[in-house]
Amino acid sequence: MYKYSDNNAQTYSQLGIKGTTYESGFNETKKILGDLTNKKVLDFGSGAGRTAQLLLSMGAEKVVGVDHNQSMIDQTKKIQNEKLEFVKVDSTLPFEENTFDGALAAHVFVEVISLDEMKQVSSEVFRVLKPGGIFVIITNNSKSIGMNYLSYGYSKNDNLKSGDKIPCTIKKGKDSFVIDDYFWFEEDYQKVLEEVGFKVSMTFPLVSGDEWLDESRVASHVVVKAVK
Ligand SMILES: C[S@@+](CC[C@H](N)C(=O)[O-])C[C@H]1O[C@@H](n2cnc3c(N)ncnc32)[C@H](O)[C@@H]1O
Repeated sequence: MYKYSDNNAQTYSQLGIKGTTYESGFNETKKILGDLTNKKVLDFGSGAGRTAQLLLSMGAEKVVGVDHNQSMIDQTKKIQNEKLEFVKVDSTLPFEENTFDGALAAHVFVEVISLDEMKQVSSEVFRVLKPGGIFVIITNNSKSIGMNYLSYGYSKNDNLKSGDKIPCTIKKGKDSFVIDDYFWFEEDYQKVLEEVGFKVSMTFPLVSGDEWLDESRVASHVVVKAVK
């Protein structure tokens, strides 16, 4: 498990969405999840609260963010909204089965250190989702390693295997920092999600316009739609 420090968690709270490399994955998520009016949604790996607030802006009646990092949970205390709740979790989720209409894990599966952890996370989300509920996973396109993106980057490495550690530089001027991520192929996500019972499809969203670097050429993310 990568342990974000208080400083890094604070920088994470300032990353934003618009005009960042993260934007394309979130736009694709909006297309997949659609209008969330009257829906109760789980934000798995909610970090400093960015994605929970995004889900709320999509109309959700209630968003519950869960995270295992205390520094990230502490950042969410700055957000006051009765429709949002943040809970520190360990390996199991403190919710009944069939609780949520939908779920999102944004930039979380790159942090899981083993296929066993990926399976534990996926089976817990499967358990708490209602039948027919959609779980969206935004994570690295395996072809994005070594690309030059605006908001974060990985060194080029053509010989990566599943589970290899890949240092990720989060770019934020003088507050930039490096975290440990892990490399997985799309087949790894697909296999694990199907094993726990999801039906899986994937998209690789590109962007257009002069304001981007490699984002318009090689999708930074794969966005996985997993249906219970
Ligand atoms: C890169 S941050 C993304 C935060 C947020 N989803 C966003 O996009 O702004 C990933 C978060 O997932 C959390 N995380 C990673 N693995 C987890 C796990 N197995 N259980 C709970 N939280 C996890 C980390 O602590 C971190 O806060």
